[in-house]
Amino acid sequence: MLVLAIETSCDDTSAAVVNNGVEVLSSVIASQTEFHKKYGGIVPEIASRRHIEVINPVIKEALERADKDFGDLDAVAVTCGPGLVGSLLVGVCAAKAVSYSLDIPLIGVNHLEGHMYANFINSPSLSKRGGNPNEEREGVSFPFICLIVSGGHTMIVEAKGYGKYRTLGQTRDDAAGEAFDKVARFLKLGFPGGPVIDRLAKEGDPKAIDFKRPMLEEEYGYDFSFSGIKTAVVNYVMRNAQRGMRTQDIVASFQRAVVDVLVEKTVKAAVENGIGNICLAGGVSANSLLRSELMLRGAEAGLRVTIPPFEYTTDNAAMIACAGFHRLKADGPSQLSIKPVAGLKL
Ligand code: KG4
Ligand code: ZN
Repeated sequence: MLVLAIETSCDDTSAAVVNNGVEVLSSVIASQTEFHKKYGGIVPEIASRRHIEVINPVIKEALERADKDFGDLDAVAVTCGPGLVGSLLVGVCAAKAVSYSLDIPLIGVNHLEGHMYANFINSPSLSKRGGNPNEEREGVSFPFICLIVSGGHTMIVEAKGYGKYRTLGQTRDDAAGEAFDKVARFLKLGFPGGPVIDRLAKEGDPKAIDFKRPMLEEEYGYDFSFSGIKTAVVNYVMRNAQRGMRTQDIVASFQRAVVDVLVEKTVKAAVENGIGNICLAGGVSANSLLRSELMLRGAEAGLRVTIPPFEYTTDNAAMIACAGFHRLKADGPSQLSIKPVAGLKL
């Protein structure tokens, strides 16, 4: 079954063609970072206008790269929330137009569910196309514990089957990605902050500053809090402004503290709930330390760890196609009247 998917929940315009929910034939992402950079964050109005400009060429390119025509498609999936409502609207309208004109099912997909399904992507076709052959991989299997970490969300979810999700814990304030972005902005490292910090941290000493690992006490369960650690970084820099400080050491220590908490709680959730599989999802799953630490500490605890292929960690439509494929099989198509919902829950 060939699914075209569209993802416009935030600032990336993306379309992908995916076969049977696992084989990615094409994945096109038009990034808007250049347009938002000078504002130090995403400007919703600019994002939706830019989506309108590029959505049709992006869909066309996804079909061309997959060597398919509109007539080959069996269904169209689209992110309908959570996200910026003006951005979501562009993708939802485009998907409705494709569904109506081709008379194929429309599938509304939750963005967070999409991130989880990046773990199901098995990319033999990409490796055939010159990608990394090591990316040929087995996906995650149910039941699993998924750590979802993005710019807007940080949560630990127990997934028993398609659509059977239970949130075990979530952030009480900032999301992990938001903390990366805010720390980077404070240190004037640019936007988005995650990739810059990841890169710089490789040259720093993660033990240089002992930032407190927040919320590890038993009473907080699987919940998180990242606004305190962001403030701790700010306070540390203010206090030590006169002394020479290496930015690399600050970001390495910050990153280490965040990753320690994320990994510890995820592994604990799996062990305490008797679930043998864990996986990782959302933009922060691109983080090299988080990826390696989860693999390491998960394996030490006897768990099977799956991480999404790097190219499907940040927002992309391929993951939406995977989730859409499963949703269609489980629940059937969505109504053509679906509306984008900014605060859609998992
Ligand atoms: O999932 P995503 O692309 O968009 C949302 O749904 O929010 O996640 C974006 C977030 C940003 O906060 C960005 O800084 C973070 O993911 N991010 C990273 C890395 N790459 C992206 N955070 C840490 N390390 C990275 N390598
Ligand atoms: Zn996302």
